[in-house]
Formats: sequence, C-alpha cells, structure tokens
Amino acid sequence: MKVIMIGCGYVGLSTGSVLAYIGHEVTLIDSDAEKIAKLRAGELPIYERGLQEVLRASAGRISFTDDWDSFDSGADAVIIAVGTPIGEGGGVDLTCVEAAVQEIGARVGGGSMPVILLKSTVPPGTGSEMKALLQQKLAMRGMKSRISVVSNPEFLREGQTMFDSFYPDRIVVGIESDEEETFLATLYRPVLLQDFTPPLAIPRPGHTRLPPLVATDLTSAELIKYAANAFLAVKVSFINEFANLAESVGADITAVARGIGLDQRIGPQFLQAGIGWGGSCFGKDARAILHAGKRHQAELSIVRAALDANQTQRGQVAKKLGARLDTLAGRTIGLLGLAFKPGTDDLRDAPSLDIIRQLVGGGARVKVYDPAAMEKLACEHPMLSVEYCPTAESLFEGCDAVVLVTEWEEFLHLPYAELGERMRAKLLFDGRNVLDQKMLTDAGFTVCGVGRSDADGGREWLGAV
Ligand code: UGA
Repeated sequence: MKVIMIGCGYVGLSTGSVLAYIGHEVTLIDSDAEKIAKLRAGELPIYERGLQEVLRASAGRISFTDDWDSFDSGADAVIIAVGTPIGEGGGVDLTCVEAAVQEIGARVGGGSMPVILLKSTVPPGTGSEMKALLQQKLAMRGMKSRISVVSNPEFLREGQTMFDSFYPDRIVVGIESDEEETFLATLYRPVLLQDFTPPLAIPRPGHTRLPPLVATDLTSAELIKYAANAFLAVKVSFINEFANLAESVGADITAVARGIGLDQRIGPQFLQAGIGWGGSCFGKDARAILHAGKRHQAELSIVRAALDANQTQRGQVAKKLGARLDTLAGRTIGLLGLAFKPGTDDLRDAPSLDIIRQLVGGGARVKVYDPAAMEKLACEHPMLSVEYCPTAESLFEGCDAVVLVTEWEEFLHLPYAELGERMRAKLLFDGRNVLDQKMLTDAGFTVCGVGRSDADGGREWLGAV
C-alpha cells in the first residue's frame, strides 16, 4: 500500500518505519524542514532503540518531505500523527490535527479516496468532527465522494516504540464500516499474523501471541487511549500512596507489590513505587480527559486523585531530605538522573524538574548528572540553578545526600562504597527502589527508599518448603 504519514515525532517515525519494513511504501511529511533535512541525510532527530536499523532496512520504501505539494492524492492511507498538546483553556489543542485535515481536504479527491487514520491522541468525538470537517472541505470543492476517517490510537512506550510497533499487545481501530475494518486488517496484516522476518535489532520475543485487532466505533477507540494511560497512571499512583503508608507502618512496598501483582486480576506491571510518574503522555492525557469529563458532566475523580497523588509524591524527596538533614538550606544534594525514565533524554513533565525546584527553593545547592538528558536540561530549563557534573562519580563529591531519580542501568553498578567516601554525609535516597539496600548499609550509607522501612523485603519458595 501507499501510505502517507503526517508528523515525524516518536509516533510518526516509529510507525512509519515499521509500516515500510513490513512492505508498504511510506512517505513521511513534517512541516519542520530542518528535521526533514536531517532524516534525508540519514540522521535521526530522536533516539529510539532499533529505529536507525529498521529505517536502513526499509530505505527503498521510505521517503521524507516538508512539501505538501508532493502529497500523493492516490495514496491508500493517510495517517495523522501530529502533536496534541494541552491548550490554554486546559483542553487539547487540535491546531496541528486540524491543519493536517485542511491540507488533506484540499488535496484528496478526483480518483480513489485514501482512508484517513487518526493516530494522534485526541478527545473522544474528534474523529467524527474531523470527518465532518473533511467532508465539508470536499463539498466546498464540489466533490460528493464519501471519505473514511478511522481512529487508530497508539500505545507506544518511549524507548520501546519499535518493539511495541512490531509486537503490540493489540491494535485498536475505531471504524464505521466492515470495509474500513478489512482495510485496516490488510494494512497491519504482517503484524497481526506475525509473519514478517523480525529485524535483527528488534527480535521477536519468544512468548509472542498474535495481537488481536480490536475493532470498535470511532469514539470508543479514542476513549480507549485515554482510559489506558489513565489506568496506568492510577496504578502507579496507587502503589505510590501505599508506599507512603508502608513506610509509616514499617512494611516494605516491594513485597506488597509482588504479593498483589501475582494475582492475575492485578498483574505485576506498573507497580514499581517511586518518586512519581512523568513523561509527555500520562500527565497530558490525564488532564485532557479530566477536562473532557467536565465538559460532559462526568467527574473522573479517580484520575484527578492520581494526578494529585503524583504531585504529592514528587514533593516527598524535598520533604524527607529536609527532615533527615534538619534543613535543606546550605545542604548539597546530588541528583542521579533527570530523564522521566531511563533510556531517553526526555524531560517532559519529569519529576526531576519539580524536585530541583523544591530543593533549590529550600535553599539547597543541587548537583545533577544524567547520561543523556543534561544538554536538554540546560537548553530547555536554563533558569534552573543546578551544577552539571561530567560523571556520576563527580556528583558525589561534597554531597550531604544523593538521590537516585532515574533508574539508569549504570547507576546500579556504581562503586558506592568508594563514592560514599567523597560525600560530606552518607545519605542515599533511592527514589526508584532499585539499589541493594544491604550493600549500601554495609558501605556505611544511611539509605532511604520509597515505601521501604527497615523491614526485610521477604523470601520466596517455589514448591514444597
Ligand atoms: C506511556 C504508555 O505506557 C504508552 O502505552 C503510551 O502509548 C504512551 O504513554 C503515550 O501515550 O504515548 P511513556 O510515557 O513512554 O508511555 O512511559 P512509561 O514507560 O509508560 O512510563 C511512564 C512513567 O511512569 C515514567 O515516569 C515511569 O518512571 C513511571 N512508572 C512506570 C513508575 O513510576 N512505576 C512503574 O511501575 C511504571
């Protein structure tokens, strides 16, 4: 099939390259000329594991342009994957989606009509509105032909977008006819059947089961996206609140999470307690659906609570350090990690930003180190008063406390015993509960985690004891 992808962000690039890899002819359009020039030169504007390799493997079937005039109106599918940030009134800003729809409406028609896929995360009802807009645009051009607009939300985790595109848990489509369903099943056929040769960089996991194509109406598909992100955010906020209780009553949240996660109705994932969730999606989407709920007189109090709990959780770092160190004023605090999660340099809605503000606000001197996100912090948040450290090791120098903010793999293997000697006081706040507490206490550290008192996390036996 001939596919046009509008938007060269994480979603557009990953999905576009995967569609090309599985055999489609893909053109990516983005208004950012600099980005397109880079892509044409073989450079990537973002880092995503495996993206470079997959793009190379599909080189003959993928092209990039910033020129709408090269839009091929004979394409089979046009996928809208542009940004949908929060607008001024708190609702979703659909400017980019509408602009894409206008461009499409000005160009399609004449011959066969492409199917328009709305992949951007948009409030329920938007697909129908965009369809009406397109139909209107066509009517203004004197065309009576019907156009198909379908919803096709994405569930891609940053850093794993290639894996999630090749081996999704499900593909959700919002449709209005059997023909649209058949079309989407054909577009995603190799992924649905898992009969493509896996790229070397993204091997097929052993346990892959075939992903179902979940076909529903347009609005339900749009709501599925928000419900999925809101549910995951609620799950993490839930375990974080229990972590705070665990601390107060002398329990260990890692044991609690393991104990409940083995119940298949609950599941083990997204029960990792920490200093709060972040990223470009959870907060944005939770706020957007709260706003939509309000507009439709449906109070989403649990989603609101998850957001509030998350803000409180971020505040725990400054609060606990202030208590442990008597005061924050004049103390030196080192932050290990800045990105909202490991494997990315993304700082959007990262807990580290609030933590820095709160520590600096309390009068502390803040040192930071992150293997990927320091340049971004300097560029995007030049007003934050922090000291950049060239290595994790140098971060420890003269600190009264060090906080592990992002669980980068390299932080698990630092020579902590040695590094502790460089500190003024050996206080370590493991904000992601990933470090070996015993090793740290043996090395003379006072360790504080999230939801972990001195309680022993417990043991486990399989079979008879
Ligand atoms: C999220 C969803 O997981 C994707 O399915 C979705 O497609 C995407 O948003 C989106 O809407 O585009 P992402 O933001 O990349 O993906 O990040 P996640 O890996 O889901 O992590 C989100 C945050 O939750 C991170 O800050 C992470 O540290 C935190 N988290 C996650 C926890 O604190 N504990 C956990 O157990 C899991």
